[in-house]
Amino acid sequence: MKPINDVATLFENQRAVRAFSDRPVDDTTVTEVIRAATHAPSSQNAQPWRFIVVRDPAQKAVMSEVYEECFLQVYGAGAPARADGRQPWTQVPVLIVCCIGVQGRPNIATGASIYPAVQNLMLRARSLGLGTVMTTLFRLQRDRFHEILGIPEGWEAAAIIPLGWPDRNYGPNHRPPVDEVVMRDRWTEPQPNL
Ligand SMILES: Cc1cc2nc3c(=O)[nH]c(=O)nc-3n(C[C@H](O)[C@H](O)[C@H](O)COP(=O)(O)O)c2cc1C
Repeated sequence: MKPINDVATLFENQRAVRAFSDRPVDDTTVTEVIRAATHAPSSQNAQPWRFIVVRDPAQKAVMSEVYEECFLQVYGAGAPARADGRQPWTQVPVLIVCCIGVQGRPNIATGASIYPAVQNLMLRARSLGLGTVMTTLFRLQRDRFHEILGIPEGWEAAAIIPLGWPDRNYGPNHRPPVDEVVMRDRWTEPQPNL
């Protein structure tokens, strides 16, 4: 995918990328996307984040295995293992585990202090021509992931972001016209279906 500098175009071209080429992603690039993440807003400017950059094949293999179990748990044995083009995490160049400190803040707003950072990371990656996908499915096996990754008490793995050069070109994302999700002055839509 081509790099993108224009911000409006960037939003329209962020896609979920789940398959990557063999091209390595160097440390400078990884640092740059994480640097972008750390410029995100957070509640009380606490910046309660840590990022684990996973490159070790053995570590990726274990994570991949457990992630596949989560996938199976949700989509069932009938779900095609790879027909969706998704690669196993063993083939992903870098996995970035985005963690949030939750000491004393375990409520709905907790996620609000990590997901802006995650989005910054993903948008910066896309601007450079890299692909990412937000994943949270691994949370079904939260304890095992925490053990594999050595995440201490008081911290939560909130998202795992596979990062790499995409396997192919991805077009823009498709979303309905904005009028379909906007109301004026009060809620007027009868019974929205999600
Ligand atoms: C909170 C959240 C959790 C997600 N969890 C997963 C996940 O566990 N695995 C996965 O493959 N994609 C996951 N996604 C990616 C979505 O499926 C993807 O963003 C959506 O289908 C839109 O894709 P598009 O932008 O390419 O159109 C998640 C996205 C969000 C925002």
